[in-house]
Amino acid sequence: MWYNVGMKILLTGGTGYIGSHTAVELVAAGYKEIVIFDNLSNSKELVMAKIAEISGIEPEFVEGDILDKVALKGLFKKHKFDAVMHFAGLKAVGESVEKPLQYYETNVGGTVNLLEAMRVAGCKKIIFSSSATVYGEHAEVPYSEDAPTGQGITNPYGETKHVIEEILKDVAESESGWQVVILRYFNPVGNHPSGLIGEDPNGIPNNLMPIVMKVARGEMAELLIFGDDYDTPDGSGVRDFIHVVDLAKGHVAALEKLSGLAADDSAILIYNLGTGGGRSVFEVIATYEKHAGKKLPRRVVDRRLGDIGEVYAGVEKAARELGWKTELDLDDAMRDTLKFLG
Ligand code: NAD
Ligand code: UD1
Repeated sequence: MWYNVGMKILLTGGTGYIGSHTAVELVAAGYKEIVIFDNLSNSKELVMAKIAEISGIEPEFVEGDILDKVALKGLFKKHKFDAVMHFAGLKAVGESVEKPLQYYETNVGGTVNLLEAMRVAGCKKIIFSSSATVYGEHAEVPYSEDAPTGQGITNPYGETKHVIEEILKDVAESESGWQVVILRYFNPVGNHPSGLIGEDPNGIPNNLMPIVMKVARGEMAELLIFGDDYDTPDGSGVRDFIHVVDLAKGHVAALEKLSGLAADDSAILIYNLGTGGGRSVFEVIATYEKHAGKKLPRRVVDRRLGDIGEVYAGVEKAARELGWKTELDLDDAMRDTLKFLG
């Protein structure tokens, strides 16, 4: 199969955790025309030099906000993009409960601004970072892309992802040529094996691995385990932990799927990106401790509001249509996490 590696690709939010890993995998796959647009609200410009160190190419960086329509217009005027990967957004679930308007404005409003800038510029290929959270709390494992979405979502962050998916579907149907891929991520973990880039959020994280890292660094006193009384083999929550490098490669596969479509074909393609299997919170901790050679201070507390026992992805569709599946496991993720911790 021949791919158009000459495509010029915009990565909004590209200095962030998943965007930076995707930039590296794009370069590795031969895509060299990459522009990153990010307001650095949850990342650092230093990441650009790290991407260059790993991949040998430093993408162009533009500091800007997806809420700034003028900046977006200027960006699309300066560059003729063939496709956009849209990572930019706010992702802290707890914060979204306290500041719903900020989340709707940035995630939903920012995406609308981006889509409008794309429409005006005639760039109609977009890959969007969605989440397993759109399936809501009543879905059955393994989650299938055909399962209903938007029911039983427990927080505004999740609602924004669902609303954006609906907007993308409407846009794809509005005029010919829109080619949309929605990627529903499960639980990204790990980092690049070089140890040069990784998850480094500002503020207090709520996801498991960033908290494990803060505890490991002594920046938090202990890890609170949210419940050991779920109906799971060891009682702790079970999730589909996907290595971020595998996740990043999933984006390259999605781009290649898009580049195989005829220019005037419209498409809305939805894929889960996960491993297809669940691992428990206790297993994650044990795997981390095995590689670190020391115990993490931890304590079991009550379940977290809105959590469910078991979540994992059905991955057959991505395998069949994208020719993609994960290659790395939890051991790889924990080993790489320790390299990033230094
Ligand atoms: P991240 O915070 O590391 O990256 C997001 C980037 O977007 C950051 O660099 C941030 O500075 C930037 N950004 C935020 N608001 C912006 C704005 N208004 N204008 C321009 N840039 C802005 O997060 P991530 O983990 O890399 O997540 C990327 C995407 O994937 C997000 O949309 C997130 O919701 C989604 N997602 C993440 C996870 C996860 O567990 N990490 C799971 C499912 C979906
Ligand atoms: C959470 C969000 C989800 C979002 C996803 C990615 C909730 C209810 N869900 O999913 O909407 O899409 O992050 O951003 O917030 N855990 C602990 N202690 C901790 C942190 C987590 O025991 O300090 C446990 C959780 O109970 C869960 C597992 O670790 O069983 C994974 O948690 P987390 O990383 O927050 O991801 P999700 O809950 O899957």
